Amino acid sequence: MPTTFSVNGRAATVDLPGDVPLLWVLRDALHLTGTKYGCGVAACGACTVHLNGEAVRSCQVPLADAEGASITTIEGLGTPETLHAVQSAWIEAQVAQCGFCQSGQIMQAAALLAANPAPTESEIDEAMSGNLCRCGTYPRIRNAIGIAAALLSEA
Ligand code: FES
Ligand code: FES
Repeated sequence: MPTTFSVNGRAATVDLPGDVPLLWVLRDALHLTGTKYGCGVAACGACTVHLNGEAVRSCQVPLADAEGASITTIEGLGTPETLHAVQSAWIEAQVAQCGFCQSGQIMQAAALLAANPAPTESEIDEAMSGNLCRCGTYPRIRNAIGIAAALLSEA
């Protein structure tokens, strides 16, 4: 049976088995390849998207759970003209190295700031602890989240 949901504000319907991971639906069926596959077992955070505003590991979300949901991927977080504060902060802090983990990092950080606009360093560390970066950009990520929080407080 087809599954219908919204992705980045647009309706989407896919006719795939309900146990297909949302990650593959996004990447292969909808060609939203900004969301990355890192581990497939909820251990790296590279596949993080927002499902009804919550950060989730899309490699672990079966398509059936997306029925009627509102999903946001890195492609829908902001636009080149109107960046999300987290994206602006990431550029200002020059966070990315190879970039592979970064869409997941940004989606996790955006969900953190939506829930807690002024996180402490320990709250940042706790919220981001499941997002791994092989390039070790953690100090820049922490810095950028602080910049994003400041941008949001000025908005
Ligand atoms: S690919 Fe989903 S957490 Fe690693
Ligand atoms: S920037 Fe390379 S894995 Fe994070």
